[in-house]
Amino acid sequence: MRIYREKDYDGVSRRVAYIIAAQLLLKPDAVLGLATGSTPVGAYERLVEMYQAGIIDFSKARSVNLDEYIGLSGHDPQSYATFMHENLFSKVNMDPANINIPNGMAADPKAEASRYEALIQDMGGIDLQLLGIGLNGHIGFNEPADRFLDHTHPEHLTESTIEANKRFFASGDEVPKMAITMGIRTIFDARRIILAISGTNKAEALNAALRGPISPQMPASILQLHHDLIVVADEAALTLYL
Ligand code: GLP
Repeated sequence: MRIYREKDYDGVSRRVAYIIAAQLLLKPDAVLGLATGSTPVGAYERLVEMYQAGIIDFSKARSVNLDEYIGLSGHDPQSYATFMHENLFSKVNMDPANINIPNGMAADPKAEASRYEALIQDMGGIDLQLLGIGLNGHIGFNEPADRFLDHTHPEHLTESTIEANKRFFASGDEVPKMAITMGIRTIFDARRIILAISGTNKAEALNAALRGPISPQMPASILQLHHDLIVVADEAALTLYL
């Protein structure tokens, strides 16, 4: 595990963008595992700037997103598909054919999860997976559980996750109760993982994930065992992890 200690959120964003840019320069057709939430927004802004400056090119890049809410179409303003379009895809030269996000409207979410898992395997796996972390230690939407769930699957969101994510919706009632998420195994199989964490409200989750026991009750703790984990965190998030 490598830890980049950055001064603040801007530093985290810059560092994450540099690592993703380096991946694209080394392998233009890399499979990028992408994340949503507020944490990666700044990194996507920096990537757009690097693209506009002619430093990086997304024309051959392929992407797979971590997760999507069940019941939201890709055109819904709150869907993760819309988030990705607004924050990154519409601003760089990604080929739409190379963009992959689970279909939250699939009639059979289990079958959609299996299709998505098979697609990732067919692409040769993920070269670089970007992750944020939930306050309860979830990655993607893998919530605390009695065992680590392996592959892409439908997941029931916990009350605390619904509470944390309701800021993006008009009210808590509008937050979907389920999502399709890459599983822990899907994520863990990525050849390189970046875990981006910012802010004092994430300090406990960071400490428990990186120092605490490896347990499915703290899903991100499995990352301690990954052979190429890069943690990019700011001082505020690192306050308990000295
Ligand atoms: C959601 C996403 C996660 C993300 C988490 C934290 O639950 N499914 O991928 O890491 O939110 O988001 P934020 O960065 O906004 O704190």
